[in-house]
Formats: sequence, structure tokens, C-alpha cells
Amino acid sequence: MNNRQKALEYAQTMQESFLEQLKTFVHIPSISTDPEKKAAMQAAAEWITTKLKDLGLNEVAVIPTEGHPVVYGECRCANRPDAPTVLIYGHYDVQPSEPDDLWHSPPFEATLRGENLYGRGASDMKGQVAASIFAVESILKNGNMPVNIKFMIEGEEEIGSPNLNSFMESHKELLACDVALNPDSGMIAADLPTITYALRGLAYFEIRVYGPEHDLHSGLFGGVVHNPAQVLCELIAGMHDQDGRITLPGFYDRVRHLSAEERAELAKLPMDEEYYKRQTGVPALYGEKGFTPVERVGARPSLDVNGIYSGFTGQGQKTVIPSWAMAKVSTRLVPDQDPAAVFDQLQQYLMEKAPKTVRWELIQMSYGAASISDIHHPATQALASAFLSVWGKPPVYKREGGSIPVVGNMQRILGVESVLTGFGLSDDNIHGPNEKLHLPTWYKGIQTLIHFFYNYGEQR
Ligand code: BES
Ligand code: MN
Repeated sequence: MNNRQKALEYAQTMQESFLEQLKTFVHIPSISTDPEKKAAMQAAAEWITTKLKDLGLNEVAVIPTEGHPVVYGECRCANRPDAPTVLIYGHYDVQPSEPDDLWHSPPFEATLRGENLYGRGASDMKGQVAASIFAVESILKNGNMPVNIKFMIEGEEEIGSPNLNSFMESHKELLACDVALNPDSGMIAADLPTITYALRGLAYFEIRVYGPEHDLHSGLFGGVVHNPAQVLCELIAGMHDQDGRITLPGFYDRVRHLSAEERAELAKLPMDEEYYKRQTGVPALYGEKGFTPVERVGARPSLDVNGIYSGFTGQGQKTVIPSWAMAKVSTRLVPDQDPAAVFDQLQQYLMEKAPKTVRWELIQMSYGAASISDIHHPATQALASAFLSVWGKPPVYKREGGSIPVVGNMQRILGVESVLTGFGLSDDNIHGPNEKLHLPTWYKGIQTLIHFFYNYGEQR
């Protein structure tokens, strides 16, 4: 039996142990946006460092940033001096779990039901980080690494990686590599191994509309004061036209058009109207006229209200005109839109549309650009044949609607391409209640990564 086979076998026999270890990782409530979870963030970072140290990796460190730290570890231990280096990117932070009462088991309990492990972060992306570590472990316990490995696991992805660019700028040499493996994407379905080659960007805002100095009696003042909740709703409603197009001035100016060939390729993916209706439970889909669902998600920009607040939302009734209203609004962007320009476009829109009866404020939150990855990179080929070995079929290539700004930032700052994959499924409820990880797919994912490291190492 060769070392590759030994590693694959090791991963098989270790399944139960891997699962137990993943549970302890998911157990840690590492919510990056919650200031009260600092200790948990540290604990999650330490969970990784302990694993990396146990594997005998070098330079293992929790490197502080202005925000949550980055975990680093490396093994310049490939069996050949000219072996390539893979930088494994991941994030140990997770989204908040609320609304907690919709979870069937507590979000940080890591509960096994059927073939799934339920818990916040199980799929996005502690399961994926763990799968990468376990694949490296399986190889190291059964021989030498076929490639050099560097881990860079951040703690702020879910809040827009505010400190990762400066981290990469100041650690260029440490992070030097031939390719980044980014398992933060996912699969279309359990029987459809998937490589992601494009991601949308993100620009996130808060809009505040201020009316009267304080809440007013709606009987004494209704009819003479413009209700800020109404104003905000009208502003939001005006951000899309009848055709589902976004009305911010200049918004589409730099949107790159899809080629006929790419449209034909995307049309082959099994992601039609029915697919999205099944995934979401909505009675009908919505979106920009003239484009299919898969095009709208992968290659067209979108704008969404993420949350909206104003006035009285408690039990019972209270007759009041709220003094202010706010909404969190985000846009998903495609090449070659400039995320920073969207701020100006939204500001322009508000200047044109907001009535003189209120004051308003626009706050810029995180932003990151869209990216397209080179699917002809040798690492992509290595991953594709890894999928073929484990799933018995080649992967499909998809554009992803979600955002992983580090991919574009790595291209820009480190000059490094990413190969994007992941072993979460599109019905994993990431960012929602009852997030889960499909374990049979996850185990196959570990096998796939073992093949990937060998394939890539053997390429040259
Ligand atoms: N892993 C997701 C993005 C993703 C999900 C890619 C599914 C492909 C398939 C990532 O953790 C995420 O949620 N990112 C945020 C980024 C933002 C906060 C900058 C997103 O897309 O909302
Ligand atoms: Mn993620």
C-alpha cells in the first residue's frame, strides 16, 4: 500500500475521532461580531493551534491583529525541495445564532441527528477548517507531505475581514505560496462535487432616518409629521424598479456582461426555479428580468434589506410616531463593480430621493470586491481529479452568490490564485437556524483533500 492509500485508510478509521473533535470545535461560540465572545474567539483560535502543534507543524502562533487574531502554522516539510506550497485559508469565527428559539437543539451543542451534525459553524466553516486539518493529519501520520503547507485561519470573516488586508500586507513573505486552498465555498448537492470559480462582492450599509426629536403621540401628531419609518420604507421600495433592477444611479455601469458561452455553461447546472423554491419555501421567485436564477445569483448584482427597525415592536400596541428608523442594506456585487463606488451611488440616491421632512445618515460598513478565479490553474486540475477519485465523477464549476473577499484581496496583495471548494451543501442553513453539516459528504471531503494534496504535489 502506498502512502496515499495509507492516508486515505487512516482517515476512514479515524472518522469517529474526527467527528468528536469537530464537535468540541463547534461547541465554542466564536461569534466574531459579539463583543462578549472574546474568550470564545480566543478558545477557538487555541483549538486550532493545539491541533496544528500536535501535528508537529512549525511557527504555530496566534498572531494578534487590531481585531480577532489570525492563526498561523506551517510545514515546509514536503518530500521534495521543489514541491509547491499550498496556503490553506479558513475562518474560525461564526455568525450569531439568533433567533435561538428556532433551533431544534442548542446552536452550540453540536448535536448529531441522522447523518447530520447540527450547530452554528458546523458547515460555515468549522467543518471545512477541520476537514483540511484532518486531511493534513492523515497524510503526516502516514508519511511525508507531498506539498508544503501553510495555514492562515482568521477570526473576522463573518464581519468582513476588517484586519486581514493589513495582516497580509505585513506578512507577505510568511504567506508566500503557489496557491491558496479556500474550502469556504460549498457543493450544490451531495452527489455534485463543486468547484467555485467566481464570488460576488459585498458592500454593506446602515441607513438612518431621523424625524421628530423624540417619539410622538400618533394621534396628536399623525398627519402633520412625516413618519421616519414610512420614509425609510419608501426609500427602500424605490431601490428596485418594476423589472427587479436596482435604481442606484450608475449601479450597473461597470457590471461585466456574461458571454453566451458562459450562459450556456451555467444553464447546465441543476439550479432552476424549482431548485430555489425547494431550498427556500417561497411561493415564487423574484429578481431581475431577463436572467435565470443561476445567473442572477452568480453573475448579477443584488440589493437586500438585512434588517429594519423603527418604533414600537413589543407585545400589544402603542400609538406612536417613532423618532427614527434604520435599515441594514447590503449589495452583492459582480466584476467589475467597485464596492467603494456603491457608497457614492447610494448617497446620491438618498440625496435625490429623501424628502426634506427628515434628516438622514448613511453609514458604510464592510466592503469587498467580487472575484473570478483561474480554473486552468494546476491546483484546480488537481482538485478536479481528486473529486473524480472520490465521487466517481468530475466536479461542476459554479459561480457563487456569497462573498469571500479574501479571494480577491489575495490576488491583489499576494498575487495568489485560490482554488475554491467546500463540503457543505446548499441546504445546510448557513447563517440561519439549524445549521448542519452532512457527515457522509464531509468524510468524502477529507478523502478529497488528501487526494488533492497528493495530486498537486505530484504534478511537478
Ligand atoms: N462561506 C461563506 C460564503 C459562502 C457560502 C460561499 C456558501 C460559498 C457558498 C462566508 O463565510 C460568508 O458568509 N461570507 C459573508 C461575507 C461577508 C460578511 C463579507 C457573506 O457572504 O455574507
Ligand atoms: Mn464561511
